[in-house]
Amino acid sequence: MTKQVTARAHTNIALIKYWGKANVALNIPTTSSLSLTLDKFYTTTRVQFTDQAQDELILNSVSTDSTRVSGFLDLFREKYGDFPKILVTSENHVPTAAGLASSASSFSALTGAMFGLLELKPDEKEMSIMARKGSGSASRSIFGNFAVWNKGWDDQSSFAACFYDEDIQLTMIVAELSSERKKMSSTKGMQLAQTAPTYADWVNKSAVQLEEMKNGIIKRDIEKIGRIAQDNALGMHEQNRLAREPFDYFTRQTFEIIEFTKQCYKEGFLAFVTIDAGPNVKIITDRATERQLLEKLHQNFPQIRFEVAHAGEGLKYV
Ligand code: PMV
Repeated sequence: MTKQVTARAHTNIALIKYWGKANVALNIPTTSSLSLTLDKFYTTTRVQFTDQAQDELILNSVSTDSTRVSGFLDLFREKYGDFPKILVTSENHVPTAAGLASSASSFSALTGAMFGLLELKPDEKEMSIMARKGSGSASRSIFGNFAVWNKGWDDQSSFAACFYDEDIQLTMIVAELSSERKKMSSTKGMQLAQTAPTYADWVNKSAVQLEEMKNGIIKRDIEKIGRIAQDNALGMHEQNRLAREPFDYFTRQTFEIIEFTKQCYKEGFLAFVTIDAGPNVKIITDRATERQLLEKLHQNFPQIRFEVAHAGEGLKYV
């Protein structure tokens, strides 16, 4: 039987965002970022050699455009020596509606699987570097729990590592608002955001927030983590609005849920928001509060689906 390797990686949500590239071709970011890997959403990917003329991608049982995946596999060919075409079979358990970057779990799982197939040393740093080139946020999904992607300055210095490998009882409630494709790709969005006159301030502030966030995690201070994450995320979206060609990922519902969450906080609930490159809102709370908060959310937004996620594990072979 032809050799095949299967790996699973979970998606992650950034608490300190990656939103800008210092080097577009290599995905070297303007800021270091920090994320929580989530248990609920993951991708399982199997790779095997094939004698077909092209790399092939089967995603959720459907043969899919493999251009991006094939370009990524070519990076392996350049770095580790040529090999035959690859059949990639991937199952994505990241609902598009959740607005979570399935590219993070996808490229992380594919990287792990390729390391196995090519029998490369399973060095997490090297895996993170390769995953980063598939999609920046994928560099962090190699790791479970909290990961920090240190921005570095070149290809070999820009990679993530596990920062804190314990479940601190943080809960992420994901409001599934929209399953539409992103209005604007993250690459394009970042490029525009970087033209905002306040962008350099956001970058500088992010470095300070990262250190405070690390401190909050070690102290297991979810209120502090949530407050900083919310400030960092809203700041990221503010850059989009201040860009030379302004744009906004938020919809009316995004604003409504943000307002609602802020109101809950005023009423004494532990509740903060974070939002990525789309309209969907993720609410940060803790295990002790999640049930009550979820009830309130269901009451106020009966038409919206909410998913509850906790800390997830890093890359695994299955
Ligand atoms: O990895 P990309 O290119 O999909 O960019 C991810 C950007 C954000 O999700 C908005 C932030 C982050 O750090 O994950």
